[in-house]
Amino acid sequence: MRLRTLDTAGDLAGKRALVRVDFNVPMQDGRVSDDTRLRAALPTLRALSVRGAKVILLAHFDRPKGKVVPSMSLKPVVGPLSDLLEQAVAFAPDCIGPAAQDLIAAAEPGGVILLENLRFHAGEEADDPAFAAALAELGDLYVDDAFSAAHRAHASTTGLAKLLPAYAGLAMELELDALDKALGAPVRPVLGVVGGSKVSTKLDLLKNLVTKLDYLAIGGGMANTFLFAQGHPVGASYCEKDLKATAEEIMQLAAAHGCQLLLPLDVVVSERLEPNAPHFIRALDDVDEAERILDAGPQTIAKLNAVVDEVKTLIWNGPLGVFEVPPFDAATVAVARHAAARAKAGALIAVAGGGDTVSAMHHAGVSADLTFVSTAGGAFLEWMEGKPLPGVEALQG
Ligand code: 3PG
Ligand code: MG
Repeated sequence: MRLRTLDTAGDLAGKRALVRVDFNVPMQDGRVSDDTRLRAALPTLRALSVRGAKVILLAHFDRPKGKVVPSMSLKPVVGPLSDLLEQAVAFAPDCIGPAAQDLIAAAEPGGVILLENLRFHAGEEADDPAFAAALAELGDLYVDDAFSAAHRAHASTTGLAKLLPAYAGLAMELELDALDKALGAPVRPVLGVVGGSKVSTKLDLLKNLVTKLDYLAIGGGMANTFLFAQGHPVGASYCEKDLKATAEEIMQLAAAHGCQLLLPLDVVVSERLEPNAPHFIRALDDVDEAERILDAGPQTIAKLNAVVDEVKTLIWNGPLGVFEVPPFDAATVAVARHAAARAKAGALIAVAGGGDTVSAMHHAGVSADLTFVSTAGGAFLEWMEGKPLPGVEALQG
């Protein structure tokens, strides 16, 4: 199904464009500490502004659960956003009603106005038609540039798309295009790397991926559950032993679909999870009772790098080890750098995303060299699980 894109929106001069962005940015002491999501929205905001639209930004911050929580105001975003845009950004203390209406009426074409946290109203998350209608009154068209909120069926995503002419913004388009290249219609062979601690949170994801990929590498704590299911000792490692049958089921599903599972061939263990704690490389059957598996070992790295050399597409979610605590970042960093070099050379389409993955890729220093790094958390996972994203569906047809 085709996405309705902004180039089909016609003459925008003087029109009021309601733009859903994801400004749910990391903040520390009331200041924006990572502006990646603000930067992602700039192309759409500039494009609308240049076309003479009044640009009205709709966003949520954190989870105030329908109440006004002053510490969850979007006001701290105004300064950094106007610096990045090199343009003043007005701020409306409420996202509906007279305060917003008056500011919008007074704005010049090309002006940018940020409205206060949508989630201060319970109607947002409830996708309440009356709240959506109150938002719709503020605009002539709706633009959704917030892929990372597209797994939510809220008033500002699905609700508004029903009430106004609705278009995907440029960041949304870019994101969907990258995701399609990685999993929708990938150039084969395609390798998935999935890490992180829990199999339990990534069951649907693993089950979907083994039906679509040629190779699936499993790392991080969740690999321990698979090693345990195969009868290897895991010592004092994090391991969901109650999911043995599930791990077996996933291994069978992979075999049935011709997906080669790549589990660790060797591991790095330590008795303590501390920076530079004494650590050892172990063969799979040599893990002692007191030892914890904290990273994949050098043979595993070599194998994964060899597969990276063979495939044309890579999709990556989750670290291979405890990358926050060196030296247990070694496998994640080594494979990420190898993949990034291949991507930079044009030999590999490499897409990474979801929660920890972005920080792991930043840590490895490879974010700029990968084909695409998604800033989406939950939305990226649900998309990898093969679930329809209501915010995206609302823009199709
Ligand atoms: C995110 O940060 O993942 C998105 O902004 C969605 O936030 P939510 O999980 O609170 O809906
Ligand atoms: Mg979230």
